[in-house]
Amino acid sequence: MIEWLLSTVPLLKGVHIAAISIWCAGLIVLPLMLTRHHPAVSSEDHRLIRNATHLTYTLCVTPAAVIAVIAGAWLIFLREAYMPWFYAKLVFVALLVAAHARVGHLVHMIAEKPGRRSAPWPYLPVASVLVPVVAILFLVLAKPTFDWISFPEWLLEPRDGQLLFDVPSR
Ligand code: HEM
Repeated sequence: MIEWLLSTVPLLKGVHIAAISIWCAGLIVLPLMLTRHHPAVSSEDHRLIRNATHLTYTLCVTPAAVIAVIAGAWLIFLREAYMPWFYAKLVFVALLVAAHARVGHLVHMIAEKPGRRSAPWPYLPVASVLVPVVAILFLVLAKPTFDWISFPEWLLEPRDGQLLFDVPSR
């Protein structure tokens, strides 16, 4: 069972990275798509833009975020990612989730509320996605040790016994 779970790591990583690419690309492109909402566009164009932003958020970006988080959660246990860089990564993931909620709010406000058709300024939402993405990529690829900070032992070791299956040891 453990060997089988470990053999799924490359697949889970592939799913994680594919889902993250779709999630982050969607969060960057949606504020740019929203700039097409302008009082000057015709009702027909407005309907097309409204559908495109709504469907992109609900059928593409949000499911990709959920898949990325589920695959990432499995990888924590299979890769034993109880390391300082990982906790730092989670801080930036939380910022990315906040940016996701903010973009969803913008889609709702601008596309769904009658009378709100003015173009939003896209740079702040795009920056609020790009900053955590760049920080996360640095953390997962460089895996800095942060050895100048002394972490409590319970943060760095698996606590044992809390899962329904054995955690593989290497
Ligand atoms: C709740 C959200 C997330 C969790 C729980 C999570 C967890 C993980 C774990 C445990 C790994 C395996 C690390 C290793 O093999 O040493 C991993 C790999 C990776 N994650 Fe995430 N992750 C999350 C979100 C993200 C996000 C938002 C990004 C990018 C913007 C990202 C990018 C990556 C990349 C590029 C790898 C591959 C690193 C490598 O193989 O060297 N992750 N993730």
